[in-house]
Amino acid sequence: MQQAIAVLDSGVGGLTVVKEVMRQLPREKIIYYGDTARAPYGPRPADEVLKFTGQIVDFLIQFDPKVIVIACNTATAAALEEISSKVSVPVIGVIHPGARAAISATNTGHVGVIGTVGTISSGAYTTALKQLSPYIEIVSLACPLLVPIVERGEFHSKSTSLIVRKSLLPMTNQYMDCLILGCTHYPFLREAIQEVMGPYVKLISSADETARETSTILYNKGKLASGDTLPIHQFYCSGDARLFRSIARQWLGEQIGNIPVLWQVTRLG
Ligand code: DGL
Repeated sequence: MQQAIAVLDSGVGGLTVVKEVMRQLPREKIIYYGDTARAPYGPRPADEVLKFTGQIVDFLIQFDPKVIVIACNTATAAALEEISSKVSVPVIGVIHPGARAAISATNTGHVGVIGTVGTISSGAYTTALKQLSPYIEIVSLACPLLVPIVERGEFHSKSTSLIVRKSLLPMTNQYMDCLILGCTHYPFLREAIQEVMGPYVKLISSADETARETSTILYNKGKLASGDTLPIHQFYCSGDARLFRSIARQWLGEQIGNIPVLWQVTRLG
């Protein structure tokens, strides 16, 4: 049986990473777990996020994946180190890829970061960016109201625009040429965020770079999938499967590029 790439998130946010993995690695099968019943993780204490992430990894490991992608910044900040030390497959987080993408995109060295309370208060982006370059100037802001909007599937409503505007207000008078979407849910709100930040601020999502890192790791390990059979991706969620399916359908569509995407959703728990 084909070994899969396992991807997890607190909810639907990891689909933004999944789409990019599907685009860059169309042969790879994905097994996804979205903990929609317990989302959002952002306001939860780090030890609880670590516990939940560990439970999801225990579930995913049964499928014998070749790599695990923690497609959640909050869980990456709270759990990446510990989980990596406990399992024998490579574990990839989204914070270092996001920081790398921002460093490569900025011209001025002034970078903004938005994320959940857990991610921003962990300082994980500041650490990752400064590790790459000491010259980067960073402004960070927690936007706790955004994840619940995405989990409800309300991406384009008027009230969504208002909440995004209100949440980002403190960022609008800060100097930056890049804004890291430091939560995998935020690309769902890209249009509304771009509208508030204006055309000169590049929005950086970690999805591309995370998919590239996954691709590199699999290539280096000689584990890239081969053959012409299209994989059927498996999505598991702990909450409302209908809502999950509807959001996944909107985000992934019927095909990515010219390749059809086949997937199933199962509710667990
Ligand atoms: N997608 C998660 C992240 O990147 C959302 C966290 C949450 O559930 O609050 O942080």
